[in-house]
Amino acid sequence: MRRADVETEPERGRGQRIRPPSVPLKRYSRADTSRKAMMPSARLTIDPHFSIGPIRRKLFGGFVEHLGRHVYDGIYEPGHETADAEGFRTDVIDLVRELGVDTIRYPGGNFVSGFRWEDSVGPVAQRPRRLDLAWHSTETNEVGLHEFASWLDKVGSDLMMAVNLGTRGTLEAIDLLEYSNIAGGTALSERRIANGRIEPFNVRMWCLGNEMDGPWQLGHRSADDYGKIASQAAKGMRQLDPDVQLVVCGSSSAHMPTFGEWERVVLTHTYDDVDLISCHAYYEERGGDIGSFLASAVDMDGFIESVVATADHVKAVRGSSKQIDISFDEWNVWYLERYHGVDKIEGIDNWPIAPRLLEDVYSVVDAVVFGNLMISLLKHADRVASASLAQLVNVIAPIMTEPGGPAWRQTTFFPFSITSRLARGEALRVKLDAPTYETEAYGEVSLVDAVATHDAEAGRSAVFLVNRSTTEPVTLTIDVAALGEVAVVESHTISDDDVYAKNTLDDRERVSPKPNDTARIAGGELTITLPPVSWTAIALA
Ligand code: AHR
Repeated sequence: MRRADVETEPERGRGQRIRPPSVPLKRYSRADTSRKAMMPSARLTIDPHFSIGPIRRKLFGGFVEHLGRHVYDGIYEPGHETADAEGFRTDVIDLVRELGVDTIRYPGGNFVSGFRWEDSVGPVAQRPRRLDLAWHSTETNEVGLHEFASWLDKVGSDLMMAVNLGTRGTLEAIDLLEYSNIAGGTALSERRIANGRIEPFNVRMWCLGNEMDGPWQLGHRSADDYGKIASQAAKGMRQLDPDVQLVVCGSSSAHMPTFGEWERVVLTHTYDDVDLISCHAYYEERGGDIGSFLASAVDMDGFIESVVATADHVKAVRGSSKQIDISFDEWNVWYLERYHGVDKIEGIDNWPIAPRLLEDVYSVVDAVVFGNLMISLLKHADRVASASLAQLVNVIAPIMTEPGGPAWRQTTFFPFSITSRLARGEALRVKLDAPTYETEAYGEVSLVDAVATHDAEAGRSAVFLVNRSTTEPVTLTIDVAALGEVAVVESHTISDDDVYAKNTLDDRERVSPKPNDTARIAGGELTITLPPVSWTAIALA
C-alpha cells in the first residue's frame, strides 16, 4: 500500500487503513473530545475451543550472564544493607520473585564462549581471575555455579545451563554435566561433593554453546562445522544423562545473512540429537521510526514461523516423526546502536570488574513493544517451548540497582510480571478485525495486536492487547460470549502522555500500570478503550 493511499482514507473505522502513527504524542491531551468521533475501533472474538496449545511455564524464563553489573553489584553485593549471609541482595531477590521468572539461562551469552567452568567452583579464595574477552571485563569468579544455584533456590527458579562450544568442546561439556548431575562415586561428582554440594544440581536444560553463527562470537563457526560439533557434544551428553533437554544454536537474529540456511544445515546434523533450536531477537527504535518499532512483534512472529518451517522441512526430508521446538532464549528491547557507540571498553590492560554495560533505561513505548513481544511468544505457544528474557538485573534488564542504594522496576518489569501471573492454561487463537497502518520496516501491519489465554480448571481467562497508534485511542469490542458468564477481575494498562517517560534512580515510580476503568461487560461483549501506545492486560473470571 502506498503512503498516499493511506493518507486519503476518509474514515478510520474497523478494517480500514489509517495514517501511519506520528510521533508527537507527548502533547496529546486525552481530554481532546474532538478526536472521539474519529476514534478507530476494532473487534476481537475469544473462544476457548480455539486452543493454540498449553502454556509452558518455561515461556517465562530469564537469563543471567556474567556481564557488566548483572552478577556483581546486581544480584550479589555483600556490603549492601539488604545482603543475606551469602552476599545476595534480598531486595533484588524479592523483585525477581515478583517478576515471576521460571527457568534462568546461565552463565552467558557471549561470556560462555570463553568460560572455563572449573574456574567457578571450589574455594572462592582460590578461584582465578580471568579476562573476559566478550565484554572486556575482569571476571573474579567470586560467584560461580554453587553460589548461583543457591541464588536460584532463593528466587524459586531452575537452572538452564549453557556449555562453551566456542573455545571448548565435547569433553568439557560432558565434564560439566558429570559435575552437575551425577550423584557421586566419580571424580567430578565427588569434587562437587567436596565443594559442599551433596545433592546433584540435576540441570535439565542445556544450551549447546551461544550464538555460534555470530562473527563476534569466540570460536564462531560455519553452520556445517558447528552442526558437527553440536551433534558430537549432544551425543556425548546424552550418553551420560539420556534425559537432558538439549538446545542447539539457531540464529542470533532473523536478519543474519546466514538465517534460514543456518537452521537447515545445523538441524540436518543434529535433528536426532537435540530437542530445541534457539532464536535470539532484540528490537530498538531506530532513527525516530516509532511506527516500525511498535510493530516489532510482527518481525518476531515471522522469525518464529520461519524457524518452525525450516525445522519441519528438515523433519520431512529425514522422514522423522520427532518435532523440534523453539527455545527463544534471548529476547528484549535493546538499544544496540547505543552500545556500539558508547559502552565498549577499549585497550588491553584496563578491563574493569563489573563495569556499567548495556544499562538501557526503558520507556513506556519500550514497555509496550516488550509486552507485544510476549503476545507473540504466547501466540506461538505450540512451538515456542521455552523463552528467556535477556536479561534480568542492570544489563538490558527489568530490574535496576544502585550499589549501596535501592533496586527498582523498569517499565518493562510490568508487562512481564503481569503476563507471567495471568497467562495460565491454554493460549487461544483469537479472531481480530482491526485497522492497519503502514510501516517502513514491515509494510502494512495491524494497529492492534492481541492474544488470549484460558485456564478451564481455574475458570479464568486473560486477554493481552496493544494499541500501536501514537495518536489515536482504539475502542475494542471483545466477544466473550463463548466464555460464559464472566466479569472483569483485573485490568492493567501501561500508557502515558509522554511515551518516553522512564523510571530512574531519582524517579523510580514515574511509570506503572493503571487499572483500565473503561472496561465494561454487557450481553457477552466486553468493550474497552486502548489509549495510544499502550499495552493492556484484562483478567476475566
Ligand atoms: O544479551 C546480551 C548479549 O546478546 C549476549 O551475551 C549475546 O548472546 C547476545 O548477542
